[in-house]
Amino acid sequence: MKIEYVDQQPQETRFFEHVTEDHHDPMAEELSPADVKHIAETFKSTLSSAYNWDYSIPDSRIKRLYDLGKELNWNVEKDLDWSERYPITEFPVDEKYNPYVGFKPYDDLPHDEKVRFSWHRQALGASGALHGEQGALMVAAQLACNAPSYEAKLYAASQTFDEARHMEFFNKYIQHQIGIMYPVGAGLKKLIDTILQDERWDLKFIGMQIIIEGLALASFNTMKMQSNVPVHKTGLHYVIRDEARHVTFGVNFLEDYCKSLPKSDLEERAQFAVYALGMMTTGGGRSNGTKFYQRYNWDKDAVREHLSKNGTLAQSGEGFRGQLFGRVLPNLKRIGLLTDSVRPFYEKVGALSYEELPSDAATSWENLSKPLVYEDHADSVVATGN
Ligand SMILES: [Fe+2]
Ligand SMILES: [Fe+2]
Repeated sequence: MKIEYVDQQPQETRFFEHVTEDHHDPMAEELSPADVKHIAETFKSTLSSAYNWDYSIPDSRIKRLYDLGKELNWNVEKDLDWSERYPITEFPVDEKYNPYVGFKPYDDLPHDEKVRFSWHRQALGASGALHGEQGALMVAAQLACNAPSYEAKLYAASQTFDEARHMEFFNKYIQHQIGIMYPVGAGLKKLIDTILQDERWDLKFIGMQIIIEGLALASFNTMKMQSNVPVHKTGLHYVIRDEARHVTFGVNFLEDYCKSLPKSDLEERAQFAVYALGMMTTGGGRSNGTKFYQRYNWDKDAVREHLSKNGTLAQSGEGFRGQLFGRVLPNLKRIGLLTDSVRPFYEKVGALSYEELPSDAATSWENLSKPLVYEDHADSVVATGN
């Protein structure tokens, strides 16, 4: 096994050429284990771990969520139909969702290039999801060690496996179908680094269950609704169900926990949530698309001006921020982290208007318990608002 250690995340885009070669897969056939080189980036974390000796689960909702996780396990290989690749000559996402339509230099591109553009944009989304899932897997694994309660350990361990499955799904979708993988974006990488390297277990919980999972639910729902590729839609539907369970667990667990904190500790957590959310909504992004946009050599200011006019589209910045805040703000309020000192920040970025939406604390059990069957609506989870 060859392992290459690097100082920072790679910046290159990876191409899996086999996808374009008439659905033939020479890489899979020709690469022997000796040819594979693992690229790893190391970091130091001070992980203070904890045993639990009382083995009790005082909250029956947490137990039920853990049991549901066991029942609703699914298999990336067996439960999804990978037998046919969606034609790469077709748009993976309809042009009605493309915020670049109406921008003259884009409109002037030949049809084939527009299709390629669409695949690259889907690759950017799927790559950000893949890297985020790896981060979630590592945070969940840390929590299995350092969370002090039995229920949190059980849940973190089962979530670790859920995140492994999600990482497997996005990786397979990228390598099998799209053939393009973008590097992680600076914003997401910094957030994951911060969460992994902080030694306080509850900050990891807040960062992952509320911020990263909120982000995941917002972006995965958009991806699912917009994708034309059946295996992508179905896989995302299953991933969304798992993520909804994770968020519900996080909100229920943290609501109780945060009530027990002294005011100064609560304030520190509230500030951390502001910092984490800021990293996701300003600069850096989830995947690094610099090379993609450089290909077109468009005037950056003209692009920005055009996109700002298309704010109602779900994948443009504003639409996405709305979905993210709609998911995260009610949960922050529910667990007590919308304190007076941080409200001005949320007000400034226009997020406070979302605080009264239903939180994920009371997510419908009926929806969470449904068997694994694909459903074509925006969100398999409907909060009851109770
Ligand atoms: Fe996940
Ligand atoms: Fe998750």
